[in-house]
Amino acid sequence: MAKIKTKYVCQSCGYENPKWLGKCPECMKWNTFVEEIEDKSSKSNHRETFVIDKSSQKPVNINSITIKHEERFSSGINELNRVLGGGIVRGSLVLVGGDPGIGKSTLLLQVSESVAQSGKKVLYISGEESESQIKMRAERLNAKSENLFIMAENNLNIIEHNLEGFDPDLIILDSIQTVFTPDIASAPGTVSQIKEGTSRFMRISKKMGISTFVVGHVTKEGALAGPKIMEHMVDTVLYFEGERYNTYRLIRAVKNRFGSTNELGVFEMSEKGLQELENPSKALISEKPENASGSVIVSTVEGTRPMLLELQALVSPTSFGIPRRTATGIDFNRVNLLLAVLEKRAGMQIQNQDVYLNIVGGIKINEPSMDLGVILAVASGFRNIPISGEVAVTGEVGLTGEIRGVSYIEKRISECRKLGFKKIIIPKSNYEAVKDVKGIEIWPVENVRQAINMVL
Ligand code: TYD
Ligand code: MG
Repeated sequence: MAKIKTKYVCQSCGYENPKWLGKCPECMKWNTFVEEIEDKSSKSNHRETFVIDKSSQKPVNINSITIKHEERFSSGINELNRVLGGGIVRGSLVLVGGDPGIGKSTLLLQVSESVAQSGKKVLYISGEESESQIKMRAERLNAKSENLFIMAENNLNIIEHNLEGFDPDLIILDSIQTVFTPDIASAPGTVSQIKEGTSRFMRISKKMGISTFVVGHVTKEGALAGPKIMEHMVDTVLYFEGERYNTYRLIRAVKNRFGSTNELGVFEMSEKGLQELENPSKALISEKPENASGSVIVSTVEGTRPMLLELQALVSPTSFGIPRRTATGIDFNRVNLLLAVLEKRAGMQIQNQDVYLNIVGGIKINEPSMDLGVILAVASGFRNIPISGEVAVTGEVGLTGEIRGVSYIEKRISECRKLGFKKIIIPKSNYEAVKDVKGIEIWPVENVRQAINMVL
């Protein structure tokens, strides 16, 4: 009998080495190597994925190429359609990542139902739950379309066999970490199995024109488990995020071959599954306390969508040692930088203060226009003077304390006006474009000192 050859594979990035290593030289992560059996068949399978069409190989002149617009259909959920760039693309493979319990299965079952209701055939494959468990969830979500089919299976060979002649329009695979092929000796969830599973579904969806959503679990560090490799292979990668004990959920694209990656979808988890939040600003700022210091409304734009958020800062004297700083929902390093700007450029003595920052609703935002909000929330918390709930702020802050211009200023202002704000503080360089806008007072500012003096 031939000796079984093994290799060690980094479960984070897929780097392979004949010996075990403590630290991966590729992605620098520790303790990620797992022994896997070297597999000949998987290599030959791999080659098969690239079926070459002889006629398409020759170089062609750019002018002779006609654009084929991708065919799309609606997922039945507007928030998701927008994140996908205008609906589900036929034959595309979408990876949906997110923490356990965040609502991936719920969302995808809802999508399955609404696509099935529009007359398309949908197959929901689950390697995690039994048919009756899925049925129970479906009852809650009121999913009972004639065109919705369920298969509780995790053997890829059986799945592929059952797909022949079945011909669905949409496949949901929940999740990639639970399916396996017996041709590869490694356990489900290892890099080789994930690679193989993804490439098989890629092949199926491209060959048969079936759109596929694949669920992928996320590791403690927040990366899609195993699958950096997977991200390269699929057409679109969506992340589902939010605090588990909070009702709001965000979905965003981190990669999209068929659209922008800036769009954001907002949902609320309810008794009957995920509900779309068409006006998230209203819900997110509805609980802003009046007359409490440290809270400010910030106008942000994610992709093309304006959103108002409440940012809170708690500032209290450090009892001993080094001041504590935490930031939830915003980049921690950015916050530290802004605190330094506040100290140096506005002369605020916060070096012996603990600062805790939080975006209300478990929302995560990484947009520079949050900067001014951070500065003002901390300043308000420090001086213990509340900022009026009728004021919204937006602006990027530079290292000299200057307020820098932001994108989509018109959109931000009209969102504030729609929600009944009386004033908005904006960067001076944006003022020219909007100085004639009626119905809201616009206060341009040049630096942080000026902004602080305006609201406190
Ligand atoms: P789930 O979709 O199973 O998460 P994932 O697939 O990402 O692991 O979501 C599970 C959570 O959602 C669970 O805590 C219960 C909650 N939930 C609701 O609040 N309402 C519902 O209608 C459903 C189906 C689930
Ligand atoms: Mg699930």
